[in-house]
Amino acid sequence: MALATWAVALLRLVLASRALRPQQHLWQLESAPAIAPPARKAAKASKLEVKADVQPRGLMKSWLSHEQAGLPPCDELPGDGNRTLDSALNLSACTWRASGAQVLLGAPLTFQGDLVLQGELQITGAKELDRPCITVLGNLTLVDARVSFLNCKEQVQVSNLGGALFVQEDLSAFNSSIAFKNCRGTSGGGLHAKSFLLEQSKADFDNCTASSMNGGGGGAYIKETFRMNANSSASFRGCSAELGRGGGLHAESFLLEQSKADFDNCTASEVMGGGGGAYIKETFRMNFNSSASFRGCSAELGGGLHAKSFLLEQSKADFDNSMASGLYTGGGGGAHIVETFRMNINSSASFRGCSAENGVLVARSSRGKVW
Ligand SMILES: *[C@@H]1O[C@H](CO)[C@@H](O)[C@H](O)[C@H]1NC(C)=O
Ligand SMILES: *[C@@H]1O[C@H](CO)[C@@H](O)[C@H](O)[C@H]1NC(C)=O
Ligand SMILES: *[C@@H]1O[C@H](CO)[C@@H](O)[C@H](O)[C@H]1NC(C)=O
Ligand SMILES: *[C@@H]1O[C@H](CO)[C@@H](O)[C@H](O)[C@H]1NC(C)=O
Ligand SMILES: *[C@@H]1O[C@H](CO)[C@@H](O)[C@H](O)[C@H]1NC(C)=O
Ligand SMILES: *[C@@H]1O[C@H](CO)[C@@H](O)[C@H](O)[C@H]1NC(C)=O
Ligand SMILES: *[C@@H]1O[C@H](CO)[C@@H](O)[C@H](O)[C@H]1NC(C)=O
Ligand SMILES: *[C@@H]1O[C@H](CO)[C@@H](O)[C@H](O)[C@H]1NC(C)=O
Ligand SMILES: *[C@@H]1O[C@H](CO)[C@@H](O)[C@H](O)[C@H]1NC(C)=O
Repeated sequence: MALATWAVALLRLVLASRALRPQQHLWQLESAPAIAPPARKAAKASKLEVKADVQPRGLMKSWLSHEQAGLPPCDELPGDGNRTLDSALNLSACTWRASGAQVLLGAPLTFQGDLVLQGELQITGAKELDRPCITVLGNLTLVDARVSFLNCKEQVQVSNLGGALFVQEDLSAFNSSIAFKNCRGTSGGGLHAKSFLLEQSKADFDNCTASSMNGGGGGAYIKETFRMNANSSASFRGCSAELGRGGGLHAESFLLEQSKADFDNCTASEVMGGGGGAYIKETFRMNFNSSASFRGCSAELGGGLHAKSFLLEQSKADFDNSMASGLYTGGGGGAHIVETFRMNINSSASFRGCSAENGVLVARSSRGKVW
């Protein structure tokens, strides 16, 4: 889709460096009415687009690779009822079909290759384990699944993994939901994965904590890209990165398309933590009617969000009551954007009641340009 018009919001956000505590200010930033684009900018705009590559339901089977579609069932694992597993299991690649199974884990489960999950499954940690509840040393794919992890806690600083689920390769969810509650891990309180894809799916992280200094990601630590497509949603509530960055989420890139992400009451370390809600190392991009909200989050730098670039297209971002507490480096009560903050057609960003101990009020772009 080539953009016929290109609107640029000119944000003047680099403010005075005196400490300020605005309590009830509402900062409403709207993209300007359509302006005929200079050719150079129009070219840039088309680079920002992400192709909508949503597959119709009829192609759902193709979401599983040939190998995954042919995996044998996980014979040793329960399909229904309540079961307790007390000895560590080391399984090869398989498909786990469950219909309401509730599994109490007294020892971790490890899959030596891919795992496919279907149906309804609840995993509960019976006690602190020396590894995540589930480790998948391949790809994990959820299709038509409802999976939840409860009370999965890793012994402090034993490994560098997530508390509930560690996926060495890609975690993909199609028409599924995945939830993490009361989890604790070294890096990624609930989830640690190389990449995470949600398509017509939902992910919830509640009260999860990451305890490592060099990891972060109270709810999830995604090494590469977290991508949400086609009416997906994600929520992070009451999560924290005790010693690191990304109270809710730590990812290299975060891409939303027709999707929604909410960060509530998440906190990153006050001493060395950026991004109370989310710490995005590179680009946070929202397309096609996406929305993101950050409420009651706090961090040293970027109370709601810390990102290198923040790009909105036909999307909406709200920052409420977020706070940056860094006394020396502080800034970005709502958001700290290192390089580029750009809003495109029909986008808006609002900042309400955000504050910073030192310096910049609501949003800050310290290098490069604020568009
Ligand atoms: C399984 O345990 C839960 C509580 O953890 C209970 O509510 C449920 O009725 C049990 N189901 C079966 C089939 O025993
Ligand atoms: C698990 O199984 C794999 C191969 O199937 C083997 O290489 C590995 O040593 C086993 N690990 C444990 C802890 O038993
Ligand atoms: C995981 O899936 C990706 C494609 O999504 C594939 O390239 C890769 O080989 C898979 N890895 C394993 C271990 O199966
Ligand atoms: C999604 O999964 C549910 C089961 O959780 C199933 O009933 C429904 O038909 C699926 N929807 C689509 C569009 O495949
Ligand atoms: C949050 O998790 C901690 C342990 O990780 C637990 O002690 C506490 O009760 C949980 N809070 C809620 C509201 O569930
Ligand atoms: C997303 O939801 C909207 C409104 O409910 C619907 O019109 C649209 O078709 C959905 N898109 C996808 C890809 O499911
Ligand atoms: C966030 O915390 C506030 C104050 O503790 C509470 O009122 C609110 O319900 C919490 N929000 C969520 C979504 O948990
Ligand atoms: C845009 O999102 C809103 C709320 O998230 C939804 O109600 C509406 O249907 C969406 N519009 C389109 C065209 O997808
Ligand atoms: C922007 O929003 C207006 C009114 O909500 C709508 O008429 C117009 O089509 C939108 N433009 C685009 C490019 O979505």
